[in-house]
Amino acid sequence: MHRLQRVLDRLVDRVDTPMPIVLVDVMQRNIDRMQAFATQHDLDLRPHVKTHKCVEVGRRQVDAGAVGITAGNVGEAEVFAGAGFDDIFLAYPVWPSGTKGTRIRNLAQTARMRVGVDNVAAIDALADAMGDEPDRLQVVVEIDCGARRSGAPPEAAGDLARAARSRGLVPAGVYTYPGQGSAGPGSREPAAQDQEAALSAAVRSLAGVGVTPEVVSAGSTPTVAFSTRSPITEIRPGEYVFCDLDNTRLGACDEDQIALFVAATVVSDWVPDQVILDVGTKAMGREGNPEKGYGGIAGSKAVLAKLNEYHGFMAVPAGESCPHVGTVVPVVPNHVCPVVASFEELLVTDTDGTLLERWPVAARGLLS
Ligand SMILES: Cc1ncc(COP(=O)(O)O)c(C=O)c1O
Repeated sequence: MHRLQRVLDRLVDRVDTPMPIVLVDVMQRNIDRMQAFATQHDLDLRPHVKTHKCVEVGRRQVDAGAVGITAGNVGEAEVFAGAGFDDIFLAYPVWPSGTKGTRIRNLAQTARMRVGVDNVAAIDALADAMGDEPDRLQVVVEIDCGARRSGAPPEAAGDLARAARSRGLVPAGVYTYPGQGSAGPGSREPAAQDQEAALSAAVRSLAGVGVTPEVVSAGSTPTVAFSTRSPITEIRPGEYVFCDLDNTRLGACDEDQIALFVAATVVSDWVPDQVILDVGTKAMGREGNPEKGYGGIAGSKAVLAKLNEYHGFMAVPAGESCPHVGTVVPVVPNHVCPVVASFEELLVTDTDGTLLERWPVAARGLLS
């Protein structure tokens, strides 16, 4: 029997499905392994909390040696600052609309606050928001290393840092996100090389305006194994903490590093070679495609072939028997982050199936 099914069988009477279940011992090993990797390569580790949005998980990352956390929006930063986290990098090109400027200024009172910038207009808006204390806010210039998402060309880093400095903000360095490293198993190393080249160019650009970066920050779970060389000083992986099927397919984690699955119940079985599970897009997000499916069933070749909002269509492969109505199965997400963000709490257990705790997904639903 698969290890996740064994855990689930021990908990099943206490689980209202669908429910995300965290194997805390596997998660802790993931945390410790990544920390050891960072330490071995003399890099700071700043995990991205968008994967777990959970204070208890963030604490374990910092207790293991992380220098601080990476957040994806102001609300996430506020939740973690409120829980005592005092070194936060908002790795996003923030536009301080509405109350966000004031909220960032407030955050900078209690935490060492860094925010991403990739254009002069945002630098000016952030400086305006900081009023008479712009030097409380550190900005990190986002550059594009080939993902073609946000981020200025590396050669523009110096001009942006100079603009920030002229407004009294503190230019702390540069960062990038090598999203192209998720395209396939062969994309990870080339993406990391793109990242290294772009960050090197950005550091030269900063030198041109007399800025020596305190931080040169790199992503991500798929590329981190190849992101160890100068000028990188910091890594920001997120998904490594739980892992998922996409990272397994990429070769960025092993199947036995998967630390989170969703318990789901078979609720209907009228269609041949198919059963319906109580996990749809509301639980799993929309991560997947018809080819790879929308999540796997641990211990089986079966996948969720299609999702409606509350229904997961589990296609039963030829030769496998259909689970009966009422059977509870472990569903492994393709991409773990949207799954966590769907739930109010994580049920925490260990590989023995001892139910330990329930942890709130404290930053759930916070998108601004
Ligand atoms: C800016 C930034 N940094 C770091 C990460 C973490 O990458 P991963 O979740 O692949 O570990 C992400 C992921 O989206 C990101 O957008």
